[in-house]
Amino acid sequence: MYPVLESREIAKNVFLQRIRAPRIAAKRKAGQFLVLRLGEEGERIPLTIVDSDPVDGSVTIIFQAVGKSTTAFSRLSAGDGYTDVVGPLGKPTHVETFGTVVGIGGGIGAAPLLPIAAAVKQAGNRLVTILGARTKELLILEDEMRAVSDDIVVTTDDGSYAEKGFVTTALQAMIDRGDTIDLCVAIGPVPMMRAVAEVTRPHRIRTVVSLNPIMVDATGMCGACRVTVGGETKFVCVDGPEFDGHEVDFKELVLRNRAYLKEERAAMERYEHAGGKCMGSGSVAPGKGGA
Ligand SMILES: Cc1cc2nc3c(=O)[nH]c(=O)nc-3n(C[C@H](O)[C@H](O)[C@H](O)COP(=O)(O)OP(=O)(O)OC[C@H]3O[C@@H](n4cnc5c(N)ncnc54)[C@H](O)[C@@H]3O)c2cc1C
Ligand code: FES
Repeated sequence: MYPVLESREIAKNVFLQRIRAPRIAAKRKAGQFLVLRLGEEGERIPLTIVDSDPVDGSVTIIFQAVGKSTTAFSRLSAGDGYTDVVGPLGKPTHVETFGTVVGIGGGIGAAPLLPIAAAVKQAGNRLVTILGARTKELLILEDEMRAVSDDIVVTTDDGSYAEKGFVTTALQAMIDRGDTIDLCVAIGPVPMMRAVAEVTRPHRIRTVVSLNPIMVDATGMCGACRVTVGGETKFVCVDGPEFDGHEVDFKELVLRNRAYLKEERAAMERYEHAGGKCMGSGSVAPGKGGA
């Protein structure tokens, strides 16, 4: 059992949790993730390690409650625990002195971006952050991003806070101004990452994206997380999660991530119907999770 030390809602339906996992806390690097499971028959859910404290042995995750499992996670309080926490998984972010790095976080993508932004800044780069959300109440980690950034632009799609527009609007403005950009790191919904890659492509700005395909075993064995990058098959859990955004086949990624939409909705309905108690049995999409 991995005890939850702290759990709080930091934005609408977005939760921060600190979990005691000392060995992971001591080893993890920026860009790596965990797989968590709640209950013997629970789905295996991948979530980025946002922070860790090797002194108290805790790891921090930030997640959006989007379906059955993440909703169940969000209902845990301090003192409750996860059945399994596996990690750190995935390749750490490649960090060196690039020059000026633009970090782009869209929605919940700000959570995986934060440890990468901190590592990039610590390596001596100039960090400009573009942080976006659909609306003000979904914007997360503004203060934390501000603390590690040399400059920051905040956007909301509906103009309810800061600049009205998409993260790509702010990025395009930087490019049009002739700002130097040596590397762009974009994390957020798949359409956002695809749009960022299309903005940077004509300018040959190296663009790294962090992919979030459906995962099951997270060890490179099951093939669930396969994506096509530069015409080659890659497994995000062991070859990623970060890839060259100009080489990713986003169309295929969207289709694969939609494969179990019907089953995911049914699992959520069954879970809510049972008062949030049906963990596992009969509620897992085929080929996706379950013990
Ligand atoms: C490497 C990695 C890191 C991630 N880091 C974060 C993070 O820091 N914060 C965060 O909020 N989310 C993160 N995600 C996405 C998170 O894993 C999914 O939101 C979660 O699995 C949804 O599960 P569910 O049962 O609640 O929802 P479901 O009802 O099962 O699904 C809702 C949607 O979530 C996606 N999804 C479902 N299962 C998976 C799965 N096993 N793997 C990936 N996506 C899935 C699908 O697109 C689906 O449409 C990450 C995903 C990956 C692969
Ligand atoms: S999740 Fe199974 S191969 Fe990556």
